[in-house]
Amino acid sequence: AERPTLERDVVIVGAGPAGLMAAYTLKKAGKSVAVVEARERVGGRTWNAKVKDMNGTEHFIEIGGQWISPDQTRLSSLVEELGLTTFKRYRDGKNVYRAPDNTRHTYTGEALPVSDATNAEMEKLTDLLNAKVDQMDVARPWKMPDAAELDTISFRAWLQQHSDDQEAIDNISMSIASGMLTKPSHTFSALQALLMAASAGSFSNLVDEDFILDERVVGGMQSVSLKLAQYVGDDVILGSPVRQLNWATPDESTADALNNISSDVRNGVPRNGAPGQVTAYADSVIVKAKNVVLAVPPNLYHRIQYVPPLPREQMIAHQHISMGLVIKVHAVYETPFWREKGLSGTGFGGGHVAPEVYDNTNYGPNSVNAKEGEDPHGVLVSFISDVHAERMWALSEEERKQEILAELAAYLGEEAMHPIAFYLSDMAAEEWTRGAYATSYDLGGLSRWGHLQNEPTGPIYYACSDIAAEGYQHVDGAIRQGEIAANSILEQLG
Ligand code: FDA
Repeated sequence: AERPTLERDVVIVGAGPAGLMAAYTLKKAGKSVAVVEARERVGGRTWNAKVKDMNGTEHFIEIGGQWISPDQTRLSSLVEELGLTTFKRYRDGKNVYRAPDNTRHTYTGEALPVSDATNAEMEKLTDLLNAKVDQMDVARPWKMPDAAELDTISFRAWLQQHSDDQEAIDNISMSIASGMLTKPSHTFSALQALLMAASAGSFSNLVDEDFILDERVVGGMQSVSLKLAQYVGDDVILGSPVRQLNWATPDESTADALNNISSDVRNGVPRNGAPGQVTAYADSVIVKAKNVVLAVPPNLYHRIQYVPPLPREQMIAHQHISMGLVIKVHAVYETPFWREKGLSGTGFGGGHVAPEVYDNTNYGPNSVNAKEGEDPHGVLVSFISDVHAERMWALSEEERKQEILAELAAYLGEEAMHPIAFYLSDMAAEEWTRGAYATSYDLGGLSRWGHLQNEPTGPIYYACSDIAAEGYQHVDGAIRQGEIAANSILEQLG
């Protein structure tokens, strides 16, 4: 069938938080937009869902991103602007630490109950990381004094240079490797690790679960995208992957010209993303516009055919950016049984299959800001990353479930073996994401190509949490990036 052709000021590829924030900002400023989304829903890596128990009763879960931390101020203010509310993660009672020998220790406060020697090593590494983060401009990590050098060494090797305490290394590495980039700590650089910490303000913030996992949106994080999409209205087109992007710059019509200015960009001269001519060919629609915002994760850039091709440096750089891999586990119980035992539901164990677990009970009588008549069930959430996730997916469904539940039981007791509902998020099997939580460079990539990731290519602008400074890999970063791209385009369009 003939595809309709739309004419708009700006076409936005991807209706995740970044793309929708760009559309919302542009539309509020009076520009016409079309948001073209591959999936049949908005929200991208944020996704409100329900899982059924054996009685057919549905329980609310969030398949993707959910938590907001106090430094994520652009997201918090947007949540308020959109009329949404938040609630705090439950954290009363004792936390659990699983030592390398699998012994279980309860504790309160921030410090894990490890030996004095290991504690001293962890403090030393934390101080070192904080000091390095202080030297980094989070928007230009490739500019820090020893950026190139820090980018040649894996995070694990860097930690091993500074400590020989395996338990300390596992616990420190956990918070960035399995906990954030969801890649093994030998596969990304110390510079990439520092960016992750810097994007949360400091390494100490990143490892403080009461900071980084502070609040959730009542009704789920996808509600942010749903509200933004509501504002954009019929200009959001679902189920329509963009396959080809034809683009031309106003004065220089080929990518050759852009190939030649990349040295300016390297030297810090910002690229001028002047309006040009863009045609986006999607499955159900063709959109002609002056600018495009490419609001998809960088590992998917190459799924689109560009005419002319992107400049050579970008074609190379994009091959060195990849998604991590993590399974988000939800287990729903009749009640939050751990609380009766004085436990918070929070547990850590660097190096174990499930290195972290939290109380993820929904907003309701059992949540911190209790309200009558809502969900009385208890929910646990856990994360299984990188090589452990690979092994889990290789098991049969029943073996996988039993092994994961045994991990939860190792933190919180035998009751954890008997959930009424169980769900594993599988973003790696989603064609339009291909992993989780987000993308990062392989060794050396950030210092070689990081400077390009936020520079427009002619009329093409980029926006995604994965190229954010503050809020890197988080919804807050996506929102910031969407707004920055929109504001830059507004300046150009006048
Ligand atoms: P996002 O990936 O969300 O959106 C991109 C959109 O583009 C998608 O809708 C996709 O379908 C679409 N698309 C791709 N290719 C296309 C094409 N060719 N044509 C058209 N459309 C195309 N963050 C946080 O702040 N707190 C948290 O607790 C967590 N936890 C978490 C858990 C899990 C399991 C995941 C997977 C992720 C998180 N995150 C998170 C990360 C957070 O969800 C993520 O950073 C944001 O959703 C990124 O938003 P973007 O809009 O940048 O990309």
